[in-house]
Amino acid sequence: MRGLCFRVLVLCVFVVSCQSHPPGAVSPSSVIGQDTIRVGEVGSMTGSGATFGISTHQGILLAVEELNQKGGIAGKKLELISLDDQGQPNEAVLAVQKLAGQHSVRAILGEVASTVSLAMAPVAQQFQVPMITPSSINSKVTEAGDFVFRVCFVDRFQSKVMAQFALNHIRAKAAAILEDVKSDYSRDSAKIFTKHFTEGGGKIVLSQSYASGDIDFRSQLTAIRAAAPDVILVPGYYTEIGLIARQKAELGLKTPLLGGDGWDSPKLTEIGGEALSGSFFVSHFSLDHPSPSVQRFVDAYRAHFRGASPDGLAALGYDAAKILGEALKKTAGEGGRELRKALASTRDFPGVTGRITLGPDRNAVKSAVVFEVLHGGKLKSAAWMSPDSFR
Ligand code: PHE
Repeated sequence: MRGLCFRVLVLCVFVVSCQSHPPGAVSPSSVIGQDTIRVGEVGSMTGSGATFGISTHQGILLAVEELNQKGGIAGKKLELISLDDQGQPNEAVLAVQKLAGQHSVRAILGEVASTVSLAMAPVAQQFQVPMITPSSINSKVTEAGDFVFRVCFVDRFQSKVMAQFALNHIRAKAAAILEDVKSDYSRDSAKIFTKHFTEGGGKIVLSQSYASGDIDFRSQLTAIRAAAPDVILVPGYYTEIGLIARQKAELGLKTPLLGGDGWDSPKLTEIGGEALSGSFFVSHFSLDHPSPSVQRFVDAYRAHFRGASPDGLAALGYDAAKILGEALKKTAGEGGRELRKALASTRDFPGVTGRITLGPDRNAVKSAVVFEVLHGGKLKSAAWMSPDSFR
């Protein structure tokens, strides 16, 4: 199996191919700087969810470079050690052990997928190394302990937004659900959606499931067609969503699909094409947000990564690394309990994904954007919803 590892030393980026080493390994040829502050990253740089890891990595890289350009932390540069977990929970656990044990990192950034973060979190807690997931929204992730943080909103909020949007904007009375049984993110999102949608007067007419990696969804979609819902909730990842949309269109089903942040990848419409137009999904970040700091980030990202635009994951990775940088400044580069305390005192941090306060539960409370997929795969912000809209 081919593993890739990413190593950033000071301002330079070394992408080292580690074919002869087990996945997640660090190239022994890389020299680790003595006088740097090491920070770890765990992500799916390869495998079916590779765009998750790569987008996040690029956002983190940009933030680390900016922090280093501004003088680093207490006179030292940040050194990012990134390990590939191929989207596998067991690989992510090994990566945390390696980063905390062998590399003595001050903190760990990652993972994207909730199922993977849920496996990592107790290990980071055990090592007392602060972990910040940029984008795992499953509520249980930060419940692993007081060293585990996130800079994104939680599933309780996203599912409420999806339910409100289905009821008030799509004017749906009947919903069908198609969930991924292998994903904690998907299962819990579906559960919370059901609660809010039914409390709001809607009815779940049918629940169907699949397992990530599946490619044929026709039997579930045929059953859904017979149940005649007004909307189909698909809280999954982009990898399957595109295929689901295509097969739905082949079956002549016009019902809109509604999803969450797991749809947010440039690959979504590459796979789903026109079949996705008229669908909606909730996410964290919009490129056309007018705020000057968002526009500055978008420009810097494009300049850095050959014109590529940041997606939600890149923006969340950037915010997570910047928040870690601020906390490390407060501790003058120290890790452990001190760093944990500094992270826990994050208030009103002006992130590109919104203002971030890490409350006592170590979760961020933020707004969400709902995108409509238009013809040609363009995205339009159909609504912004803040936690206040539900009070
Ligand atoms: N929120 C997803 C999870 O918790 C991960 C994700 C975030 C995927 C954003 C894509 C974009 O598993």
